Amino acid sequence: MPRSISRRAVLTGAGGALALGVGASVLDVRTSAEAYRHYVEDQRAALSGPSDARALVRYATLAASGHNTQPWRFRIGPDEIAISPDTARRTPVVDPDDHHLYVSLGCALENLVLAAGASGQGTNVGISEDGQTGASVTLSGTVTPGADDAAMFDAIPHRQSCRALYDGKSVAAEDLAHLKTASQVPGVDLVLLTERPQINAVRDLVISGNEAQLADPAFLRELKDWLRFSPKRARETGDGLYAAASGNPALPEWLGRIAFDLVFKAPAENDKYARHMDSSAGVAVLSAVSEGPAGWMAVGRACQRFCLMATALGLKTAFVNQPVEVAGLRPQLAEMSGLSGRRPDLVLRFGRTSQVLPFSARRPVEAVLVA
Ligand SMILES: Cc1cc2nc3c(=O)[nH]c(=O)nc-3n(C[C@H](O)[C@H](O)[C@H](O)COP(=O)(O)O)c2cc1C
Repeated sequence: MPRSISRRAVLTGAGGALALGVGASVLDVRTSAEAYRHYVEDQRAALSGPSDARALVRYATLAASGHNTQPWRFRIGPDEIAISPDTARRTPVVDPDDHHLYVSLGCALENLVLAAGASGQGTNVGISEDGQTGASVTLSGTVTPGADDAAMFDAIPHRQSCRALYDGKSVAAEDLAHLKTASQVPGVDLVLLTERPQINAVRDLVISGNEAQLADPAFLRELKDWLRFSPKRARETGDGLYAAASGNPALPEWLGRIAFDLVFKAPAENDKYARHMDSSAGVAVLSAVSEGPAGWMAVGRACQRFCLMATALGLKTAFVNQPVEVAGLRPQLAEMSGLSGRRPDLVLRFGRTSQVLPFSARRPVEAVLVA
């Protein structure tokens, strides 16, 4: 057989094998996306009536957390549930002082308190020392939650960080007022920016922050560690940032890791953030009066309440924290939010959209309980 034909035959064979391999991988992604959907739906099953401590903990774990690290542990006592930081889940590059870690604890704490109330149990929250070791929730007496707390509790399984394009329409003044009152937590200020020039100014800071972060190899390495490109991997780990939950295609894990290196670049990401900000009805900036773990947990509680009330009102929310994560941008954000001299803790955009994205996964309750 002539040499050229035999080489072509070999190449065709190799190409066919590769195509088969990719085809099988894509099919595998489709099948595991279905299994993933069932897994996250089970985790979000609604609580009803009096609930035991494990059920309350499951609801707590549905809270937001930076990079979906879920940096929490729970200890169940006779009349108490303690929540403490899981420092093995730190993200030292994006969050060198554990700010996001304690905010995330606060988000989970708020879900826990709302879930206990909805199951008729009163709560007393104790913060240890300066908050460094977390918080404890003592369950005592019986309560009937008010209308806002009941609505926020109902919203817990439906809330998600929705990184989609919103519809660009403004939010009614009474809904904005409702968001503000529902998010009130002592020691935390919430500023809503809804004028287009204000949103544009925050957009420009988000883009500056994004430029700085994507130019930092350590930031990219840490982010990639927490990305889950395939539904199979997202389900296996029960944590991290599932690509499809951010509106990106689900891919075989190996292909996603290659695509990330090739495609995840500042110009395209900046453009996406600009469109996201332009489509939003407003921006929320949260800031604690006191800096440190206790203040950051309080911010987390207010943030979770904000996101839950937004969900109850049919609104979507997404964090755009670049201007607080890149420390040099904080003073400008503080100034434009009327918080000069303070550290702004969190930035979220909000609005409406009909786009539906998959929920992110959680680890099972057993994985977050300590004896
Ligand atoms: C303190 C904190 C910081 C966050 N920062 C960002 C962020 O900058 N960008 C982003 O897209 N999501 C951010 N998130 C959202 C998380 O990625 C999200 O909560 C997590 O993936 C779980 O998904 P869920 O909120 O849909 O349940 C942050 C969440 C918290 C609590």
